[in-house]
Amino acid sequence: MGIERTLSIIKPDGLQKGIIGKIISRFEKEGLKPVAARMAWLSQKEAEGFYAVHRERPFFKDLVAFMTSGPALLMVLEGENAIAKNREVMGATDPAKAAAGTIRKDFATSVEKNTVHGSDSPETAKGEIAYFFRDTEIFPYAWAR
Ligand code: CMP
Repeated sequence: MGIERTLSIIKPDGLQKGIIGKIISRFEKEGLKPVAARMAWLSQKEAEGFYAVHRERPFFKDLVAFMTSGPALLMVLEGENAIAKNREVMGATDPAKAAAGTIRKDFATSVEKNTVHGSDSPETAKGEIAYFFRDTEIFPYAWAR
């Protein structure tokens, strides 16, 4: 497994609720270090491109509308087994089904306003990170070791 990187988004509902710090603190406690971060108000085109795999789904239009409804915090998280670890810390997509102590269980409102996004596989993580960040915008913690 080793050290991996994953794309994390704190969605517009997370910013609206003012819980960026609480969420990042949970990532850091679990060994997921932000190595890149940028706040962005996604355009329709950016959101549609990012979620292109879901374009045939019935919820696609609402998903894009929600993701462009306000700014989001885009981050790359780095750590041991980061992709699976991030998914564990986030909890299930539907907060009603998320385990106790997870971000979505504690903060999310619905399957749409589910506060955080995280890449679901190494291939997806690679593509999603490259979608938002250049290599020169990512600062691995190697300098601190
Ligand atoms: P995310 O991890 O960002 O990936 C796709 C998103 O689609 C998902 O989180 C949900 O917020 C959103 N979504 C909205 N409706 C549904 C649904 N019925 N099933 C799955 N995902 C949904």
